[in-house]
Amino acid sequence: METLQGKKIYIMDYDELEPHLSKEVLVGEQSIAVFLTEGEVHAIENNCPHKGGPLSQGLVSGKYVFCPLHDWKIDVTDGVVQGADEGCVKTFETTVEDGAVYLIYS
Ligand code: FES
Repeated sequence: METLQGKKIYIMDYDELEPHLSKEVLVGEQSIAVFLTEGEVHAIENNCPHKGGPLSQGLVSGKYVFCPLHDWKIDVTDGVVQGADEGCVKTFETTVEDGAVYLIYS
């Protein structure tokens, strides 16, 4: 498979994002949950580290998303699971240019 390292991939227009809602995008076979938090775009792997729940379908409160399966609380800015639970979700660097949102693979 072609490597994405060093690439900037367009995923959506900024206008498509809404606070408190997440959008799922697919990059290749990778499902990614995208969030708009306090005007900033954050992207994390769309699989909960607990049992793979789809985080793009979770409730969003501030900078946290609550997994729709068992309610784990995850910080969308750094991917870290909160509270007594442990784990981390892969995060992706994002940038917004001319109203377009990109993922940057470093
Ligand atoms: S799969 Fe997300 S909390 Fe269980």
